[in-house]
Amino acid sequence: MTELTWSVSWETELADAAHGPLAALLARAYAGHAARFTDGRSWAGARPELRVVARDAATPVAHAGIVRRFLRALPAGPDVLVGDVGLVAVDPEHHHRGLGTALMARVVDVLVDLDVPFGFVSCGPDVEPFYRAAGWTRLPGVAVHLIDTHHRLRADTDPTMVHAAGRPLSAWPAAQVFARDGQLV
Ligand SMILES: CC(C)(COP(=O)(O)OP(=O)(O)OC[C@H]1O[C@@H](n2cnc3c(N)ncnc32)[C@H](O)[C@@H]1OP(=O)(O)O)[C@@H](O)C(=O)NCCC(=O)NCCS
Repeated sequence: MTELTWSVSWETELADAAHGPLAALLARAYAGHAARFTDGRSWAGARPELRVVARDAATPVAHAGIVRRFLRALPAGPDVLVGDVGLVAVDPEHHHRGLGTALMARVVDVLVDLDVPFGFVSCGPDVEPFYRAAGWTRLPGVAVHLIDTHHRLRADTDPTMVHAAGRPLSAWPAAQVFARDGQLV
């Protein structure tokens, strides 16, 4: 493996031609959902606002998408601005070399640069240990009302992971239910 090149790209500044290789990476990483990423479609639900990508020469080998959005803490607020992170993927040929951890550290750096208070990820229980190992914290007993990739409303009790960016985690609202009024990234 040559030295990796990292980039941070806004969605409207990414060339059309970049999406095919990103979709191919996502299909490799999310092998059970590869059909979502056909025809150069490099997103599953919401399109990222910006993407953090590592490339080995020209080939993407790690990717994360970020959308800034407000979550509503229910029932009484406050709203909280987060960098909603998804499409976290490392090429299977590069797993367990610390690349995913490096990716998530870059995501936090980006959020700090953007002055976004917190990083936010909903993940499956199986990958919670990865986020924990990367320094993310699970919010215990939290449910998230969200719109899934099929545009259906869902109350999600999968692990909700957060990371301090522009603010300390002690500033995270104490609520047990959050509404994310937008599609999963
Ligand atoms: C999750 C993923 C990004 C991890 O990438 P990676 O580069 O292998 O991660 P790292 O090497 O930095 O892993 C650091 C530690 O996290 C944990 N970890 C890594 N992958 C894990 C996984 N899939 N499940 C649970 N824990 C995991 C391990 O403790 C690992 O340490 P180890 O390698 O010494 O065992 C990668 O497995 C992937 O792309 N999976 C498919 C897509 C996916 O599930 N994304 C997350 C969706 S929310």
